[in-house]
Amino acid sequence: MSIILKGECMEKIKEILSDINVDKILDVATGRGEFVELLKNNIGSFNEIIGIDNHKASLKIAQEKNKKIKNIKFIDEDIFNSNLKKESFQMVTVSNSLHHFKTPQNLLKTAFSFLKKDGYFIISEMHRDGRQTKSQNTHIMIHHWGAKIDMINNYYHEETFTHDQLVKLADTLTLKEKKVLKFSYPFDENSKEEYKEYFKKGLKKKLSSVDKKNQDYQNLKKEMNEILKHVDEYGFATSEMTFIIGRK
Ligand SMILES: C[S@@+](CC[C@H](N)C(=O)[O-])C[C@H]1O[C@@H](n2cnc3c(N)ncnc32)[C@H](O)[C@@H]1O
Repeated sequence: MSIILKGECMEKIKEILSDINVDKILDVATGRGEFVELLKNNIGSFNEIIGIDNHKASLKIAQEKNKKIKNIKFIDEDIFNSNLKKESFQMVTVSNSLHHFKTPQNLLKTAFSFLKKDGYFIISEMHRDGRQTKSQNTHIMIHHWGAKIDMINNYYHEETFTHDQLVKLADTLTLKEKKVLKFSYPFDENSKEEYKEYFKKGLKKKLSSVDKKNQDYQNLKKEMNEILKHVDEYGFATSEMTFIIGRK
């Protein structure tokens, strides 16, 4: 059975995590290790966190953030060809990554195979629907625009899922004691000015990775200008998230 708690329940998520004491945690497709930050600061206790990803530049950032912490490690491996032992982790997490996989269901199945019986499985993923504020919509617009460019550049990146699609994906696993929540990371609605210049530069740099002769270039440029207007008017905040936790 799943419980749906709507709204900004970051505190609820921190409370859930703080009640969990585990041995080894695997963060799948860890990227720059942002979810590892949430875990290490909120889990009741753990002996080791391993982040796995096959993108060297992101791993370097994650490693740098944790260079003084001996029991947090990052490994450069493809999750589908990993040397990690199956059923050897007491917690496995997948954060903001499902929409980077052609077969998200396969990714979940593979991630799940590293989890011990009774261990905790977490999916945390931004969704595109729900009660998003206008500043959160900025994030979704930027994300989907960027994903189109990533696809042009042969880096697999879909639009984000809806909340219900994520719940359905999680239903493909057999999870006991499942809880489904929605939350938003805390944000400052008045952050307009700070972000305006940041996005102007960032979006222009991203667009410059597309060949001007590409058939989509002009549309992408038009869309970029619309997004920048939206940033000007409403600012930026991170999108609402779906958080699903259950046990094997
Ligand atoms: C959006 S990023 C990760 C975000 C991160 N988990 C977080 O919560 O901030 C998606 C990551 O999936 C990784 N990825 C894609 N395919 C992978 C694979 N086959 N094995 C391992 N990592 C993979 C990418 O390299 C990328 O770093």
